[in-house]
Amino acid sequence: MSQTFAKWYDFFMYPLEQGKFKQIRGELLKKAHGKVIEIGAGTGINFPLYKRVESVTAIEPSSFMIERSKKNLHAASVPIDIIQSGAEKLPFSDHTFDTVVATLVFCTIPDTEKSLQEIKRICKPNGKILLFEHVKMDNPYLARLQKQLTPYWSKICDGCQLDRETVQTVTANGFHLIELKKYYHGLFVTMELEIK
Ligand SMILES: C[S@@+](CC[C@H](N)C(=O)[O-])C[C@H]1O[C@@H](n2cnc3c(N)ncnc32)[C@H](O)[C@@H]1O
Repeated sequence: MSQTFAKWYDFFMYPLEQGKFKQIRGELLKKAHGKVIEIGAGTGINFPLYKRVESVTAIEPSSFMIERSKKNLHAASVPIDIIQSGAEKLPFSDHTFDTVVATLVFCTIPDTEKSLQEIKRICKPNGKILLFEHVKMDNPYLARLQKQLTPYWSKICDGCQLDRETVQTVTANGFHLIELKKYYHGLFVTMELEIK
């Protein structure tokens, strides 16, 4: 993760965050309960949105993002602990968390399958997984455009892939989809999942 990406991330996301994203994030995070782990917490944009949960453990591999996320701790109404880690190897015991949250992260994680195995391991068997992601679109022309843009986009946006089929990846890796909502013509989705 580059320092430049971390520095400009909130600035470029601001128009989206002040628009529909705030509502999408809020609606999704209302479903979190108990002990929560947030994967790839970035600049901590979700921190103020957690209500009525026991605690949040925010993991994030980039020290630059972590520094920025600390400024959002004061706005949180629940205890939040930030730990530097990638999702592929999580430093927690089996069945630790009631809820796993990841927002705009599965587009970037290098090893998604390994990360999903780790999520399955650290989540309680009856736990909940809440995702907000951008994905490959259903429209074949737009999907082709996403594929063509990805090599350039990924260079500017620190490895972000525009054409990942995250819904299919997650459901093929041992998660059962309870609810799927699509936004912006299916460019963005939220998923509520449980372990199969
Ligand atoms: C596009 S940002 C999203 C940040 C934040 N979750 C949000 O909703 O705005 C992607 C985040 O994923 C993190 N990330 C990249 N590789 C990761 C990995 N292997 N495990 C966990 N997080 C990762 C990045 O450091 C970055 O903070």
